[in-house]
Amino acid sequence: MRTIAVYPGSFDPPTNGHLDIIERSSRVFSRVIVAVAVNLRKNAFFTPAERVRMLKRLTSAMGNVEVTSFRGLLVDFARAKEAHILVRGIRAISDFEYEYQMAHMNRKLDQEIDTVIMMTGERHSAISSNIVKEIARFGGKIDDLVPPLVRDILFKKLKGAQGK
Ligand code: PNS
Repeated sequence: MRTIAVYPGSFDPPTNGHLDIIERSSRVFSRVIVAVAVNLRKNAFFTPAERVRMLKRLTSAMGNVEVTSFRGLLVDFARAKEAHILVRGIRAISDFEYEYQMAHMNRKLDQEIDTVIMMTGERHSAISSNIVKEIARFGGKIDDLVPPLVRDILFKKLKGAQGK
C-alpha cells in the first residue's frame, strides 16, 4: 500500500526534533510531504520561503521527502495531495492536549484523514523553535538543538535584524 503522509508545522526554524520526526516518518511512509504553514503566526521570524528553503536543504538526501508550504486548512491541503495521514510529533505529555484537540478537529473536518503521533526522540524532548530563537537572541549555544545550516542562518539573520 502506498502511504502518503503530511508533516505540517510552523518550523520557525526547523530543529533537530523536527528532523528526527521527518527521518523516522520517511522510513514508515512511502512519501512524506513536509508542509510549512503560511500566515499562521504574523510574528514568525523566518518567512515561509526561508523555512521551505532550509527544510529542502536539510532533507535533500531523503528521496521520498518533499517540502512545500500551504495556506488555509490542513485537511484541504492533505486532500489535494491525496494524503490520508497527518504526522505530528509530541515531546512530552504537555504537548498531548493540543495534539489531541487538533487530531479530533481534523478528523471531524475529514474522516478519511488520520493523525499519527510520533514520540520525539528523547534527546530532542526539550527542544522548541521558540526556545532555540530565544537562546540564539542572547548569543547562547544552539549546536545541539538545530542542524549547523539552521544555526548559521539564524545567527546571520539575527545579526542583520540587530543591525537595523
Ligand atoms: O508547528 P505548529 O505551530 O504546532 O503547527 C500547527 C499547525 C500548522 C499544524 C496547525 O496550526 C495547522 O494545521 N494550521 C493550519 C490551519 C488548520 O487547518 N487549522 C485547524 C487545525 S485543527
